[in-house]
Amino acid sequence: MTHHPSPSASPSHLTAIRDSYDTVAADYAQLVKNPAELDPLSRAMLAAFAETVRTAGLGPVADLGCGPGKVTAHLATLGVSAFGVDLSPRMIELARRAHPDLNFTVGSMSALATPDDSLGGILAYYSTHHTPPEQLPSVYAEFHRTLAPGGVLMLAGHVGGEEYLRLRPTEAYGGHPVSYESHLLPPDRIAELLNEAGLVLTSRLVQEPEEGAQRTVATFLARKPEPAAVIR
Ligand SMILES: C[S@@+](CC[C@H](N)C(=O)[O-])C[C@H]1O[C@@H](n2cnc3c(N)ncnc32)[C@H](O)[C@@H]1O
Repeated sequence: MTHHPSPSASPSHLTAIRDSYDTVAADYAQLVKNPAELDPLSRAMLAAFAETVRTAGLGPVADLGCGPGKVTAHLATLGVSAFGVDLSPRMIELARRAHPDLNFTVGSMSALATPDDSLGGILAYYSTHHTPPEQLPSVYAEFHRTLAPGGVLMLAGHVGGEEYLRLRPTEAYGGHPVSYESHLLPPDRIAELLNEAGLVLTSRLVQEPEEGAQRTVATFLARKPEPAAVIR
């Protein structure tokens, strides 16, 4: 079944994310690295994801929580048909302006206006850590619903250590006030939740904080399984 977002019924965490990213959008777009300038491992994971999706030829990639669309555009340069979705109308405005050839829409990854089984890939790049842990099963279920069987999910972002960590920053990206929370889950818990959503984890890269970096980041690749063959 396809769900459609209902802005009037937005849970408060979605309102906080949308309002905060609307506020920081212009500075965020200036401050965030171009994907071509990312560290070699991050670029390699994006390239591996793009190649896997391209080879499978199952459909487009949805870049969920695309922000100003830099990574969406990077996927397009890697030969993938990609579009972006973000909660923040201001982010979507900036993405459309910077990349007029690509498709960007306002929406939530928790209720996508995307048909079942239609995506060759989903990228969630540093965009799921504002979702409270109790809401993650429904977000991952939405990933599972919209991916084609054999489609690939790449999930990357901040993670916690062995314990779950809840952060409540008051400002970000050049001192702008923000009201979102960040929920840093242990990588094992993320793996468990992906598995519970019916997605099969195929790889996991954990990058420890290096000099200058504050947090551990992790990248997960998972696949929606093909229906089991019926044996007669
Ligand atoms: C840290 S930014 C990352 C943007 C982009 N992926 C990048 O790497 O530059 C997080 C983005 O995720 C979006 N976001 C967070 N939760 C979302 C949700 N439930 N649905 C859609 N977008 C969401 C925010 O609006 C914000 O633009």
